[in-house]
Amino acid sequence: MLKIALTGADGLVGSRIVELLNNDFDFIPLPQKLMDITDKNQVNIILNNLDFDIFFHLAAYTNVPGAETNRELCFKINVEGTKNVFEAVRQKQKKFIYVSTDFVFDGVTPPYDENSRPNPIGVYAQSKYEGEKIIGSDGMIIRIAYPYRANFEIKKDFFRTFKYYLENKKQLSMITDSLMTPTFIDDIANGLEYLFNNYQPEIYHLVGSQSISPFETATKIAETFNLDKSLIGKTTYEEYIKNKPGLPKLAEIKSKKNNFWKMKIFSDGLEEIRKQL
Ligand SMILES: NC(=O)c1ccc[n+]([C@@H]2O[C@H](COP(=O)([O-])OP(=O)(O)OC[C@H]3O[C@@H](n4cnc5c(N)ncnc54)[C@H](OP(=O)(O)O)[C@@H]3O)[C@@H](O)[C@H]2O)c1
Repeated sequence: MLKIALTGADGLVGSRIVELLNNDFDFIPLPQKLMDITDKNQVNIILNNLDFDIFFHLAAYTNVPGAETNRELCFKINVEGTKNVFEAVRQKQKKFIYVSTDFVFDGVTPPYDENSRPNPIGVYAQSKYEGEKIIGSDGMIIRIAYPYRANFEIKKDFFRTFKYYLENKKQLSMITDSLMTPTFIDDIANGLEYLFNNYQPEIYHLVGSQSISPFETATKIAETFNLDKSLIGKTTYEEYIKNKPGLPKLAEIKSKKNNFWKMKIFSDGLEEIRKQL
């Protein structure tokens, strides 16, 4: 069985991957309390003494609005931290997989596939792109977009945030003129099963099969879970980013390479979640 050492195994995305693929791979989680990726010395000691086939790097500073005011910490974790683990893994000549984001694209000239040119507009996105440049063509880079899942106590994704608002009769103000590409985390796990077994040091997009506006995502959530659609108000991209900079406008993300796992459109992901709940 392939041994996969991973950072970020307790996070929103990582914990579901481990949950779903636990019988297929031997996962070795490296939580922050055991290995802080910003501590180069600690990283070297731990990784030098660890036996694994693939290093799967999910850990990151992931607070997108927070990064705008915490640039230093964001770069320390996402750039310096990535450099620390990547160099230690390279020394051992092991395979490296870096999880990145669709936010590396500016959202001005969609669609974006694996060959499109990144041009990050926010601090978080810039830090993740710097991480990609460290890996270059010496590792696999997997970009994901708007991941969502049925349950996860620790952190709400966009789906559970919108659902929570609607269930609690709170008003939502949703953008009608931008695009996002929601990605069911269970599909990411299934796509990864293939990529772990068919490693190539290349870029892959593991993203949902459909890009829709935030207004449409909230509407589909209301429809699937019988919630009150009249709570969903409308706003424009220009209005929204006055308070929350760094959001790419037309994040229509595609894959030219994923011929190995069919990623769900949003309504099918929601239907699957309805069954899981
Ligand atoms: N969520 C999204 O919307 C989204 C979208 C696109 C791409 N991504 C990418 O997907 C990956 C996973 O995201 P996520 O949402 O699952 O993350 P998350 O839930 O916010 O979890 C972040 C993880 O990073 C770990 N971490 C943070 N600082 C660390 C440090 N100094 N040393 C070691 N570990 C550290 C945390 O470990 P502890 O729990 O031990 O502190 C935690 O497990 C990230 O690379 C992110 O950039 C996420």
